[in-house]
Amino acid sequence: MSTDEIRTWVGRVNKRKVPKQYQDATVDNTPRAQRVYDSLTKNPERLVFVTGTHGCGKTRLLYAAAKQADVEGRMFRIELAPQMILGFQKVASVDMYELDADIYELQKYPGTLAIDDLGAEKTTDFALQCLYLVLAFREQWGLPTVITSNLSVEALGERLGDRIGSRLLAGKTVELGGHDRRAEMSGKSN
Ligand SMILES: Nc1ncnc2c1ncn2[C@@H]1O[C@H](COP(=O)(O)OP(=O)(O)OP(=O)(O)O)[C@@H](O)[C@H]1O
Ligand SMILES: [Mg+2]
Repeated sequence: MSTDEIRTWVGRVNKRKVPKQYQDATVDNTPRAQRVYDSLTKNPERLVFVTGTHGCGKTRLLYAAAKQADVEGRMFRIELAPQMILGFQKVASVDMYELDADIYELQKYPGTLAIDDLGAEKTTDFALQCLYLVLAFREQWGLPTVITSNLSVEALGERLGDRIGSRLLAGKTVELGGHDRRAEMSGKSN
């Protein structure tokens, strides 16, 4: 596969199509979504960290915020952390210069960059380096970034190292309470 073909593939994956299960999500019917959206767009918080248990609504919150961004004409890009790293790896396997360009694209993305499910990717030196490059650049330029994880900020810091952990700690943390709605919807909750 050539770099261009990989790019097209990655681009297709990244192009936002709202998955069926989040199509009804709005900031009005999704807990904390309005608050997170405001923190990223209207208040000075440039990094928001959303944490909560599996199935409590973190990804839904991102799609609700993205919908609001569409309404207000703001840019909002959602990347699933493991898929983002996989995309970087594929490009790197062909051409390291192209990898640099792809990382730069996320570094300078001028709207809100959402990285969903951070900590779910395999922790390799390569993954850590890519994540660090993206997050450090966005921090330096004050570009809005929202990160979701099942892990606490401390646990994520332990997993990803102090450089990334300290940037997460410096942001605003939003703890999504609630329960596993996925289990509830499948009728398997207690
Ligand atoms: N407030 C809500 N109203 C209606 N449905 C909800 C709400 N919160 C979550 N859901 C639904 O519950 C399911 C799980 O939500 P979601 O995928 O956002 O969880 P998550 O926190 O991202 O889970 P994971 O950590 O496993 O990725 C989805 O189908 C979502 O639409
Ligand atoms: Mg999720």
